[in-house]
Amino acid sequence: MGFKEHIQPDKLPQHVAIIMDGNGRWAKQKGKLRTFGHKIGVKAVRETVEGAAEIGLKVLTLYAFSTENWNRPQREINALMNLLVDTIHQETPRLIENRIQLRAMGDLSQLPSNCQRQLQKSIDDTADQSGMILNLALSYSARWEILRAVKALAAQVQAGTIRPEDIDEAQFSKHLCTAEFPDPELLIRTSGEQRISNYLLWQIAYSELYFTSCLWPDFTREHLFEALVAYQQRERRFGKISEQVAAL
Ligand code: FPP
Repeated sequence: MGFKEHIQPDKLPQHVAIIMDGNGRWAKQKGKLRTFGHKIGVKAVRETVEGAAEIGLKVLTLYAFSTENWNRPQREINALMNLLVDTIHQETPRLIENRIQLRAMGDLSQLPSNCQRQLQKSIDDTADQSGMILNLALSYSARWEILRAVKALAAQVQAGTIRPEDIDEAQFSKHLCTAEFPDPELLIRTSGEQRISNYLLWQIAYSELYFTSCLWPDFTREHLFEALVAYQQRERRFGKISEQVAAL
């Protein structure tokens, strides 16, 4: 019996975020170029996206390219951008078959123009899909996102449309890229690294963190289901005590 049978449908997280890590190391272990790892990583993206839709998640946010990734060798950046354009182009019909809506968040203006165009086309082409939302974090970092929110609020204060004392968590969240989504209940990181790497810092305040040593190209829907089972075995207390949670 696989992990899927152990998932309780009534306790599914709505939003799962993933840090896809380990493509380079996976390739190196096989004596191949890092870009080969990214290429095979696309298979894991497909597996995970379709597994997440199959199980009924509402939102899946994948960290596909961070602000810091712009500091990689130009050759690797180019390979990643080309892979992104090709993958988004090729996978759009499959997204539609699976009723998946594509979104993207981050400083998208930094992406090469062909990448921006393909992204926008696939976002438009899938806009009517009513199943899961696949949200790609591209040229994204949480500090960039938080600063952007702060600047937007500061401008509103300056314009006199909001008073500083009225800024609360809900107001602030409205200015984040994820404004229309619930915070992720579960954050998964592959490759054995146990850090957050500037990802969704505000939104993961109460997320369950799940680290697996599996390198991203080896990640399958079964690994996703395993993480969901582990999540469901945890007790989420949100600062309360166990007895209070049990009484709910
Ligand atoms: C991390 O591995 C992975 C990335 C920086 C890129 C992720 C991209 C893909 C999986 C392919 C395209 C994605 C989509 C959404 C179509 P790493 O290079 O940091 O690996 P390392 O830590 O072993 O060096």
